Amino acid sequence: MGSKSFYITTPIYYPSAKLHIGHAYCTTIADSVARYHRLAGEDVFFLTGSDEHGQKIQEKAEAQGIKPIEYVDKIVAEFQKLWDMLNISNDDFIRTSQKRHEKVVQEIFRRVYDKGDIYKGAYKGLYCTPCESFWTELQLDENGCCPDCGRPVKEVAEEAYFFKMSKYADRILKYIEDNPDFIQPVSRRNEMINFIKQGLDDLCISRTSFDWGIPVPIDEKHVIYVWFDALTNYLTPIGFLDDQEKFNKFWPANVHLVGKEIVRFHSIIWPCILMALDLPLPKQIYGHGWLVVDGSKMSKSLGNVVDPVELINKYGADAIRYFLLREINLGQDGNFSELALVQRINADLANDLGNLLHRTLNMVGKFQKGEVLAASGRSEVDESLIADAMATVKTFDEGMAGMKISTVIKAVWAFISRANKYIDETVPWALAKDVNKKQELANVMYNLVESLRIISVLIAPFMPTTAERIWQQLNMPTSFADVRLDDIKTWGGTPAGMHIGEAQQLFPRIELEKEDAVPAAKEKKKDMPKQDNTAKDDEITIDDFGKVKLQVVEILEAEPVPKADKLLKLKVNTGSEVREVVSGIAKHYEPTQLIGKKVILVMNLKPAKIRGVVSHGMILAASNGDELEVVSVDMPAGSVVK
Ligand code: ME8
Ligand code: MG
Repeated sequence: MGSKSFYITTPIYYPSAKLHIGHAYCTTIADSVARYHRLAGEDVFFLTGSDEHGQKIQEKAEAQGIKPIEYVDKIVAEFQKLWDMLNISNDDFIRTSQKRHEKVVQEIFRRVYDKGDIYKGAYKGLYCTPCESFWTELQLDENGCCPDCGRPVKEVAEEAYFFKMSKYADRILKYIEDNPDFIQPVSRRNEMINFIKQGLDDLCISRTSFDWGIPVPIDEKHVIYVWFDALTNYLTPIGFLDDQEKFNKFWPANVHLVGKEIVRFHSIIWPCILMALDLPLPKQIYGHGWLVVDGSKMSKSLGNVVDPVELINKYGADAIRYFLLREINLGQDGNFSELALVQRINADLANDLGNLLHRTLNMVGKFQKGEVLAASGRSEVDESLIADAMATVKTFDEGMAGMKISTVIKAVWAFISRANKYIDETVPWALAKDVNKKQELANVMYNLVESLRIISVLIAPFMPTTAERIWQQLNMPTSFADVRLDDIKTWGGTPAGMHIGEAQQLFPRIELEKEDAVPAAKEKKKDMPKQDNTAKDDEITIDDFGKVKLQVVEILEAEPVPKADKLLKLKVNTGSEVREVVSGIAKHYEPTQLIGKKVILVMNLKPAKIRGVVSHGMILAASNGDELEVVSVDMPAGSVVK
C-alpha cells in the first residue's frame, strides 16, 4: 500500500536568458511545499524544467549564430546549477527538447486529432513573441500592445492547425464556477471567469514560419505551438505513456504553481486539452505574484533583474530562501530589496534564531557539562512554552497544507521569540548558582533543547541546510533525513542523557555601514526624517527609540587617554568588526578590569573626535552621584539590544 501522493510543479522556464530572482522565488515556494509534504510522510513528486522550443528561442539562437539546441543546452545547464545552489529538491527536470517529451506531445496531438478536436485552417492575427501568445485586435491594450506584457505584437498569417477550444468553453467555465479552490487566489479566479465570458476562440496550435519545435505528427511542415507543447510537460515524467501505475498515482497534479501572468494558459487552455483527452483536471492552479522593483515587474527587457547566483554567493541559499518565503505573501506582488534582505538576516536569523541556539548550547555546556538531563515536573512557564510549541506545530501543519507560507514562518518565528523569552523568564544563570535548583535548571535546559529540536524541523522546508546544522549542533542521535512531522507532534522527543555538540554560528551579522554593495541602505539613511526638535514633552515613539542601535560589544583593550584623566580609549569587538571608542569612565575602572567585559554600545552615534581620538559610539553606563557602573551583560558580542 502506497502512502498519500502529492504532485507539485513549477512553470518550465524559457531558456531565453539567465534566470532571475523571480524564477528563484517561484521554485523556492514549490520546493518548500514539496519538502513539507515529504515531512508529512507523503510520496511527493516535484517537477521543474525548461521550455525550450518556439520562435523566441529560435530568434535568440540565430542572433548568436548557433543552433537552437546549442543555445538552450548552455542556458539550461545554468538553470540546473542554480537549482543545485538553491538546494531545490525536484524529483525530475523536464526539458521539452527531450525525446521522452516529444513522444508524449505527438501522441497527445494524435489523440485529440483522432477525436475530431483538431482541424486545419489558416491563422491571421497578432502574435506576441516574448509571451508566445496569440491575440485578437480587441484584446490588445490601450497602446495596441500585448495585454500581458505591454510589448508590441506582430501580424502573422499562416496555414495552421486549430484546437476546438470553443467546444469546451461552457464546461471549463462551469468547472471553475463549481470548484472555488481550482484557481487561487480568488482575484485570479475572477479574472479567468471574465476572460471566458468574453468568448473562447479555437486555439491555433501549429506554426510554419520557423522550425524549432516538435513536428506535427500528421504534417511535418508544421511545428506544434510552443504552449501546446509546454503544458503537456506535466504529464511526461509521471509515466503518461510508459508507467500507468505511476501516472495513476500522481495525476491529477495537486498544484501547478505559476506566475499570475500565465494562469490563463494553465486554467483555461490546459484544462480544455485535458478534457479533450478525457483526463482529470489538476486540483489547483495557484497564481503567485511578481517580484517588483520600483513598482515594475522584474524582467530582462527592463534591465532591472536581480541575479540569484550573486545573492546566494553573498548571503547563502538559506538566507535568500528565508527572505523570499517570509517577506512576500503568496499571491501578492512583493518588492525585492537587498536592504530588507540584510535586515531580515540580522534580525530574524543572526539574532532571534542564532541567539536562541547559541545561548542554549552555551548554557547546557556551562551548567551541565553539555549533558541534557531528564526533565521532571513542570512549572507554569514550562507549561506555557510547551503549549506554544505544540500550537506552533499545528499551525505549521495546517498552514503549509494550505500553502500559507509566510503566515507559517511568522508563527515559527513567534515561537523562537517565545523560547528566547523563556530564558529571560526562567533566569537559568541564577538557577545555576543555587544547589537546590538543580532539577529546575535541568528542566529549563531540557525544554530549550527540545524547543530547538522542534524548531529545526519546522524550518526544514524553508532553510534545509540551517535546519540540519541545528540538528547536528544539538547532536540529536537520529539522522535528520529520517525525521518526520510526527516526530514533533508530541513534546519530549529529545532523549535525556544525550550530549550536545559543538556550537557554531549560524548566520554572521551583516554590518550595513560597511556593506558598500548595498547602495539602497545608504540612500535610506540620507532620507531618514530629521529629528523633530519642536516636540516639547519628553515622550518618544517606538520609532524614535528604534533609531538608536544598541548592541553588545566585548572590550578587547583599554588604555588611558593622555592628558585626560576621565577618559579611557577602548577597543571593542562588535561581533563583526573592531572599533575604537572613547569613554569617560577612567575614574571608575582600572583598564584591566574592563578587558573581556561585554557592554552595550550605541552603534550608530555619529563619530566624534575627543581629545584627538575618534570615538565610534558610546558605552552605556548607569550613574548615581559619584557611583558609576558600565551596563554589562552575558551575551555574545553582536547581540542586539532592544
Ligand atoms: O512563461 N516575479 O516561462 P518564463 C515572480 N515557459 N516570478 C516571476 C517573475 C517575477 N518578476 N518573472 C518570472 C514561461 N517569474 C513559460 C511557462 S509552463 C507550461 C510554461 C516566474 O521563463 C513566474 O513563475 O517566462 C512566471 O510565471 C514564470 O517565471 C515565467 O517564466
Ligand atoms: Mg515570461
